[in-house]
Amino acid sequence: MANLDLANFVRPNVKSLKAYHVDNHDCKIKLHANENPFQLPTEILDLISCSFKNFQFNRYPDPGCQQLRKAISITTGIPAQNLVVGNGSDELLQLILQVFCEPGDGVAFPDPSFAMYSILAKSMDLKPVPFSLNDQWDFKADSFLEIAEQTKTKVVFFSYPNNPTGNCFSNDEIEKTLNNFQGIVVLDEAYYDFAQKTFKNRLETNNNLIVLRSLSKIGLAALRVGFAAASPLIVTELNKIRLPYNSNSVSQMVANEVLNQFHLIQKQIDLIIQERTHLFDALSKLNEIEVFPSDSNFLLFRTSQNSGEVFQKLAQKDILLRDLSSHPKLKNCLRVTIGTPDENSNFLQEIEKIL
Ligand SMILES: Cc1ncc(COP(=O)(O)O)c(C=O)c1O
Repeated sequence: MANLDLANFVRPNVKSLKAYHVDNHDCKIKLHANENPFQLPTEILDLISCSFKNFQFNRYPDPGCQQLRKAISITTGIPAQNLVVGNGSDELLQLILQVFCEPGDGVAFPDPSFAMYSILAKSMDLKPVPFSLNDQWDFKADSFLEIAEQTKTKVVFFSYPNNPTGNCFSNDEIEKTLNNFQGIVVLDEAYYDFAQKTFKNRLETNNNLIVLRSLSKIGLAALRVGFAAASPLIVTELNKIRLPYNSNSVSQMVANEVLNQFHLIQKQIDLIIQERTHLFDALSKLNEIEVFPSDSNFLLFRTSQNSGEVFQKLAQKDILLRDLSSHPKLKNCLRVTIGTPDENSNFLQEIEKIL
């Protein structure tokens, strides 16, 4: 028998962390996790079931994701040798910090932004360096560069578009950062498909740039597929510390089918973008709400009432949103993912009643 005081064994920086929080209410209408509300098109489902007939469940996956990287290369125009596949783009965020940062180094990110940037930095004994966004949820490169120098910042993460504010940062400010920051710039383009804005062309001119993408937001959240595009040296270093079979065979196979039939997914993306405009316009008409413009598959809005109560009332109606009000800059703010047309009208009807 053993009964150790286990808490004393845990590294202090891990002990002080709070786990990434996901609301898990059992609601039918899930508009809280920025997923694609549509099932994969039947044509793709049919191809997947065919592939399963001869699927080699007994074999390890292809460790280099050759076929998948080729499919990504064809879709994005980025050479396959510049790509690394991750078990979700989350995994790649962690690998990037592992490659570049020593304990005590600064890891910068706009504030508010994706919570994992800070959680990962803290878990690895790195120093989170949040820099405040202005009222338009934008930043100034000059002030970031000053902060970066003072804090020994090695890596900066930009969620582009930014989760949870929804917008893309100014082109000029990102350019200035790319050209002047003496460290690694990660453009986390998880929501690229809803914005169609990218810095991938700068991979050729800026060897300190890493572009991250995810298939989670466009229909494959269940399978955890993300990828990094970067210069050959960065790819080599990421591959050294990546676990040998980080991407499983099912994820590789399905992602490959999805990318080969991307025109079918694009139709879903187009519909989500159309619904985003519709939902934005409808929410803008409500006096009790301030809704922020979005390049993503979600909308951030502020309510005149207590957002926690609005969140609970919606949950009672089987509609799950993300309550962001614990962040000082996001008081009374909620985030709603664009759902199917039916889910969106349901949400609109209920929130109008509540407010
Ligand atoms: C900005 C941003 N980056 C990365 C991720 C993680 O995506 P993945 O599912 O590919 O790990 C998310 C998920 O919410 C996100 O919002």
